[in-house]
Amino acid sequence: YNYQVTHFVTSAPDIRHLPADEGIEVAFAGRSNAGKSSALNTLTNQKSLARTSKTPGRTQLINLFELQPGLRLVDLPGYGYAEVPEELKRKWQKALGEYLQKRNCLKGLVVLMDIRHPLKDLDQQMIQWAVAVDLPVLVLLTKADKLASGARKAQLNMVREAALAFMGDVQVEAFSSLKKIGVDKLSQKLDTWFSE
Ligand code: GTP
Ligand code: MG
Repeated sequence: YNYQVTHFVTSAPDIRHLPADEGIEVAFAGRSNAGKSSALNTLTNQKSLARTSKTPGRTQLINLFELQPGLRLVDLPGYGYAEVPEELKRKWQKALGEYLQKRNCLKGLVVLMDIRHPLKDLDQQMIQWAVAVDLPVLVLLTKADKLASGARKAQLNMVREAALAFMGDVQVEAFSSLKKIGVDKLSQKLDTWFSE
């Protein structure tokens, strides 16, 4: 697929306001500041398709992008942002779980984690939820440019090993928007999900 023609369609304040549950959706999830919006921009080769920010919690709406009629990429708000009140965090975490479990058109989940701090509790929860409903997962270890190649490989191997415990379709790759690492791996995975 040509991801460069991806364009913004709409924003939803919560999962109840998403467009009709039709076509194929692939969602990008991860902690605040993990690099979700940057990864979408890198994939689509667009500077500001998804808004990025140094301030965690920038993406507060669910943003939907379309690469072809009925084929959508979804930028989910980041979880685990410390400044958000506990109550709101719980609400959002519940909504994410519902989205993963009930959205029929969702065919794959990309979970992004900073390569220096992977597999936090909420990351594991996202993967568990996905595996529980047979949703394939691509884990991207982002900001791989921040580590030298030895340390990068060590982290990749560690997370791949840990991912086996989820007993599901979980692939793990290193990724960098800055250095364009792992972009082919991402587009190849999306190609398979969008053609099913
Ligand atoms: P929220 O929308 O707040 O959940 O964050 P996000 O996951 O969308 O992160 P975003 O893409 O906005 O990036 C957060 C910060 O990380 C920004 O300052 C980016 O410039 C930086 N960043 C993203 N990707 C990379 C990368 O590959 N390498 C480096 N070095 N920095 C990156
Ligand atoms: Mg974002």
